[in-house]
Amino acid sequence: MLPRLPLEDSALDLLRACHTKMRLFTTALERIVESYAKNPADLQIPDAARITARYFREALPKHAEDEDLSITPRLLAVYPELAPGLANGAREHAVVEGELPQLTAALDKLAACERLTVEEFSSFSARVDRVVLLLRTHALTEETTWFTPFGQLPAEDQRAVRLEMAERRARPGAP
Ligand SMILES: [Fe+2]
Ligand SMILES: [Fe+2]
Repeated sequence: MLPRLPLEDSALDLLRACHTKMRLFTTALERIVESYAKNPADLQIPDAARITARYFREALPKHAEDEDLSITPRLLAVYPELAPGLANGAREHAVVEGELPQLTAALDKLAACERLTVEEFSSFSARVDRVVLLLRTHALTEETTWFTPFGQLPAEDQRAVRLEMAERRARPGAP
């Protein structure tokens, strides 16, 4: 299967695009909570919830895999001093991953035009706050700590990361 990523983009371009997408969907989560709090019957909620659930279920885990499996080992080979920050980043990926089943379950209910109980909404809203804060801080930390070193890795390393990112997204069922 052909990679579904623009061939002219570098691995760093793709990483930046992944972070832009992450920020869009963290904002989407906040908007869904705000809209539901104002009017649970808001007709825009189901579609927004469906698209957002798909991002968190399918796309975000691939971005974490890009970093943990393709980028981190290559960065550490050249910049071992980045080890503590990269290990912390991997722990944050795991924390977010732990939130995803319940986050996407609530989004699935909203996508199916179902109502959340008061307790479910309260739990969903608190989870959104946690995930949004963590992802925004996480993305900014990555951008300011290892994006520049990553862009200075040997060209063959960057091409290999680019290829692995494309292969990940070409897997059956990939978004
Ligand atoms: Fe990350
Ligand atoms: Fe990232």
